[in-house]
Amino acid sequence: MDRRTFLKSTGAGMFLAGGGLAWAKSTARPLPIIPLTDLTGGVEDRVSLALNPASHDFGTGVASETFGINHDYLGPVLKVKQGQTLPFDVANNIGDTSTIHWHGLHIPGDVDGGPHQEIEHGSVWSPDVPIVQHASMNWFHSHMHGKTAQQTYKGLAGVLLIEDDASLSADLPKTYGVDDFTLILQDKMFDGSGKMAYELSAAVFEDGFEGDTLVVNGAIAPVAQTVPTGLVRLRILNACNARFLGLSMETGPVTVIASDGGFLSAPVEAESIVMSPGERYEILVDMSAVETNFLNVNLDGGGGGFFANLFGGNQTTTALSLTRSATNGFDGAMPARLANLEPPKSADATVTRSFQLEMDVGADLAALALAWDNFCGDAGAMAINGQPMKMDRIDEEVRKGDSEIWRISVDDQLHPFHIHGCSFRILSQNGGPPPAYASGWKDMVHVEEGWSEVLVRFDFEATKDAPYMYHCHILEHEDCGMMGQFTVG
Ligand code: C2O
Ligand code: CU
Ligand code: CU
Repeated sequence: MDRRTFLKSTGAGMFLAGGGLAWAKSTARPLPIIPLTDLTGGVEDRVSLALNPASHDFGTGVASETFGINHDYLGPVLKVKQGQTLPFDVANNIGDTSTIHWHGLHIPGDVDGGPHQEIEHGSVWSPDVPIVQHASMNWFHSHMHGKTAQQTYKGLAGVLLIEDDASLSADLPKTYGVDDFTLILQDKMFDGSGKMAYELSAAVFEDGFEGDTLVVNGAIAPVAQTVPTGLVRLRILNACNARFLGLSMETGPVTVIASDGGFLSAPVEAESIVMSPGERYEILVDMSAVETNFLNVNLDGGGGGFFANLFGGNQTTTALSLTRSATNGFDGAMPARLANLEPPKSADATVTRSFQLEMDVGADLAALALAWDNFCGDAGAMAINGQPMKMDRIDEEVRKGDSEIWRISVDDQLHPFHIHGCSFRILSQNGGPPPAYASGWKDMVHVEEGWSEVLVRFDFEATKDAPYMYHCHILEHEDCGMMGQFTVG
């Protein structure tokens, strides 16, 4: 047994002792509809987001200690419009320093909310965030260096939907909570008493934290929702710390209409889609042909992980059951076209950069797990191009407006790579073409074997005091140093 297999099997034993799978077996709960803050009609006041300690019952019958943003777990769904500037007041009351990063937004580095825009406990961060990009599903989450995993897991995350004139008038389902649903998928671990648990160990540093229980919008899956006959839109975020999720429908294909950074040119049908942590996809489900349908999630979407080893994979669970009812909703047809999306022009690139993600830098992960209070501290246990993340080191300097090719590879395992301040197009993923559903605007790319290459351009400034980040979105890897900083000027 090599070191990694050994760590996995001991880790798995601990997981089974927790008995978390039992929680997943209960009958479906109603889908929680996350409260919507719709600002598309205009922004009159400052937009307040308060990070608070809270408690929340995920469905175990016992309240867990959580963080929430205006709520007891997670944040509101913010719906905004291209062209607006959002005057946020982010108040931090969690008893620890935090940050809120706007993942997916094309905004300058000083309002990006990365690790340099720390918000001390008891203070308020007030960035004016310009929304220049087109319709897309984005999100926000803690980016406190070393503690991103712990804070995001506890609930510091929310969804930010950008609409534009075209999306607001598009012939698509768009009545929130009726035919248009936002789903935040996460995996959780619950201890024997039903409380949410998070504990770092060497194995967890290796794989990232993986829970055995799927949670949708803060409720243990499966969750259930009645919907109108016709097309139903699901805007889905994988907000897991580390798990890749394989999504499929019980009946029919997964019809994808948008990826991280906006609409595809036309709907793409896939038997299943793989979502890494941090990725977003919008799908349409046709409820005119079926009475019920299920969104199923394979918790080993990426292939690896504890359960793949233990049970030979196929740890599939129903996330959401949809049942047709007599309510009125969207009655249009499946759109033939969605957006104008040119193929990526890689010939435009004038600069190529290479990034090697490194897990095995010889750090003693077990000692690290013991030394800190469930966070990675300032440790250099993982690296990119031989350098663990350092707050005071700039790794790359990019010229504003240049088209660049970024090539990413890794020494072991599957990793989701993310770049701040942009949307990019995937030229290749793991040495081959990306799946059709991942060929539109993205800010996440999977990296396992061979090179993954993206074509990217940065249109906003990021100074050395407020640089952008690029990193693995397995949050424990990011915290452990698999992250770098770059300026744009
Ligand atoms: Cu979603 Cu740098 O993060
Ligand atoms: Cu980001
Ligand atoms: Cu990683």
